[in-house]
Amino acid sequence: MSQPISGPPPMPVTDWLSAQWDDACALDPRGDARPDGGFDDLIAAERKIEPRDQMPSGYRETLIRQLGQHAHSEVVGMQPEAHWIPRAPTLHRKAVLLAKVQDEAGHGLYLYAAAETLGATREDMLAALLAGRQGYLSFINYPTLTWADTAALAWLTDGAAIVNQVPLCQTSYGPYARAMLRVCREESFHHRQGFDSLWVMMRGTAAQREMAADAVARWWYPALAMFGPPDARSTHSAQSMAWRIKRFSNDELRQRFVDVCVPQAELLGVTLPDPAMRWNAERRHYDFTPPDFGELTQVIRGHGPCNRQRLEHRRQVHEEGRWVREAAAEYARKHAMRNGGQDGT
Ligand code: 3HC
Repeated sequence: MSQPISGPPPMPVTDWLSAQWDDACALDPRGDARPDGGFDDLIAAERKIEPRDQMPSGYRETLIRQLGQHAHSEVVGMQPEAHWIPRAPTLHRKAVLLAKVQDEAGHGLYLYAAAETLGATREDMLAALLAGRQGYLSFINYPTLTWADTAALAWLTDGAAIVNQVPLCQTSYGPYARAMLRVCREESFHHRQGFDSLWVMMRGTAAQREMAADAVARWWYPALAMFGPPDARSTHSAQSMAWRIKRFSNDELRQRFVDVCVPQAELLGVTLPDPAMRWNAERRHYDFTPPDFGELTQVIRGHGPCNRQRLEHRRQVHEEGRWVREAAAEYARKHAMRNGGQDGT
């Protein structure tokens, strides 16, 4: 008789997150009946703004800024985990990690494409990244020291990404919202595989449990910092929320993330490194210690542990990919000539 295989239990999520996801899936942004009127009427009526619509230049610029930062985060965010693909402990874990890292590249492409519908070009956005004029999320500038970091990173930072991105499925700009629906489905797999990997390590040897606990302790605060500065110091939140680009403030999402994590941590058997963490029955939320926002500012300014290394690697692979871009451009030129320029190129 073969032994029954006991896998990790289902991951608990809060009612808030489930409700956000149900709302996102229930909306069909393409099928919306649109009211007459301009930008403000569409926003007030909770209708999507589409590329053909008139929009304030600030709305367009805010979206290009956020979409650029978001796309760069997906692409530069491949690096911490890609390092572990050749070092994965089993073929199964290697295949899963490979799929996850490839998904991140795809997310970057959806988001660059969404930004292009606003008139930005991918070349300009990449040039801005490489010149340090556009950024990417801070957590990517921390090192992945052990195999357990791939698990803690996925459970915590992909978990934080889900809490941030599920509401973005209802952002006011149609192409961004539609890209997010697809990204979130894939992020759920990323999050789940991190939980699964940690669950297995926490039921392994003492050394594996220690490695997992250490990784969770190091990734907790970078994950909390992903939601950005506190509301009182957030430059863009008020306007972005008025335009319904952002649906919730940085602090609200950070709190929602903590509320999602605590029951999952209890199930895993890992300790979140915050002695002040406790359920507050009055607020109906967990109290917690916020991240060090001074450290976040330093990392955003380029002084995190791996900022230089991440950007240097991106510059190098961008240069190595030059021949691919040139070959693709040449192919497009020849294709256009064969068609007698009928496609307008
Ligand atoms: N890391 C780096 N920069 C950050 C940051 C962070 N954690 N949080 C805020 N900032 C920057 C902002 O970009 C802004 O910079 P700017 O004025 O130079 O553009 C400044 O700090 C002030 O912050 P605000 O709160 O005013 O900025 P926003 O209103 O834009 O809110 C945000 C910040 C919540 C990060 C918002 O931009 C957002 O939701 N972005 C999309 C989320 C995103 O990028 N997700 C990628 C996840 S990565 C991933 O999933 C892949 C991984 O799994 C490998």
